[in-house]
Amino acid sequence: MLFTLTTLVFTLPALINAAPVARVRAVGACAAKPTASSLTSDDLVGLGAVADCSAASFPDECRNATQAAPFVDKAFADFGINTAGEKAALLSLMLFESGGFAFNVNHFPEPGRPGQGTRNMMNFPFILQYALDTPAVADQATALVGANITTPDAVPPETQTAVRELVLTDEFSFASAAWFYKNSGSNDKCQDIPGLVAGLQAGTEDGWTNYITQCVGTTAEEDRKAGWQKALDLFNAMWYVSDLRQP
Ligand SMILES: *[C@@H]1O[C@H](CO)[C@@H](O)[C@H](O)[C@H]1NC(C)=O
Ligand SMILES: *[C@@H]1O[C@H](CO)[C@@H](O)[C@H](O)[C@H]1NC(C)=O
Repeated sequence: MLFTLTTLVFTLPALINAAPVARVRAVGACAAKPTASSLTSDDLVGLGAVADCSAASFPDECRNATQAAPFVDKAFADFGINTAGEKAALLSLMLFESGGFAFNVNHFPEPGRPGQGTRNMMNFPFILQYALDTPAVADQATALVGANITTPDAVPPETQTAVRELVLTDEFSFASAAWFYKNSGSNDKCQDIPGLVAGLQAGTEDGWTNYITQCVGTTAEEDRKAGWQKALDLFNAMWYVSDLRQP
């Protein structure tokens, strides 16, 4: 840590001359260090996000990396996702589930599962929970499901899709992974699972595996793991020159 900072201070003047918002990439930053910097489109493309949606199979759903970056940052800020480990886990999940932000709803096998969607591709019971928990659309969701509010499985497919529609806007769709991590869980609430948050914040593989299997409720496959590792490396290395000017 100390060595890294010393190195950065010596290289600062050159970077400031280069550009007012030049970013310094510090190798070997602490895993649990909060990262305040913004994502760039290059950051996201490097992690597998779509750079250009013009050839996308579902152009209405696709968001290029330039479009996506501010919504990812906003979701992290709004839900208090501050550590590299947590950001890496949530962002890599979204990228994996949405094909690099090409998809906003489930399509496969065709015609796709009614009610499943947003960038972390949540199943309907969670889509409904999310809509009911989101003040701007909660009343509409309540009206749509009527008496089935306590039995999401009974909600007819067309109604599931109508509820999903309420949370597909960029602001809500890019925030659902953060909402899920903070307020829900595949079984128990993620935040209530002993050691889960601490493990994810520490950026350990065990912490991430626990998040994927216990919180998200899926399997910790190799390609998911590779995506998380890449995202973790990115967030661990993220600094702005302006961060260093703060006392
Ligand atoms: C990304 O989307 C924005 C907004 O639609 C557009 O202006 C920009 O050209 C797109 N970038 C690429 C590389 O396609
Ligand atoms: C509630 O579920 C039942 C069973 O699927 C269905 O017949 C009924 O239309 C649903 N009510 C609403 C308001 O969706």
